[in-house]
Amino acid sequence: ALLKFVDFGGAEAQVEIDDGLSIMEGAVGAGIDGIDADCGGQLSCATCHVYLGEDWLDRVEPMSEEEDALLDFAVDRRPTSRLCCQITVHPEMDGMTIHIPATQA
Ligand code: FES
Repeated sequence: ALLKFVDFGGAEAQVEIDDGLSIMEGAVGAGIDGIDADCGGQLSCATCHVYLGEDWLDRVEPMSEEEDALLDFAVDRRPTSRLCCQITVHPEMDGMTIHIPATQA
């Protein structure tokens, strides 16, 4: 699916991510800055924190209790916050907007 990343300064980058990868894997593979993903997707670092576009919140898999708990360690958690290693890319996510926070730590 083709995803749009918007950094804290407003710069946009379109990235084609293979279905079945996580958003984190796709973003890191494409060299998107600002997603540290220190734990490599093991749900133990909270440095893959992103804000989803409002329209997309209910169009991705719901967050687990574990993700919810770990998100409390993310900087500046908001209602649209997710850990993007926990979201698998699928075809219906085409056009999705993802905002990258100012900092991960
Ligand atoms: Fe560490 Fe997502 S990469 S929690």
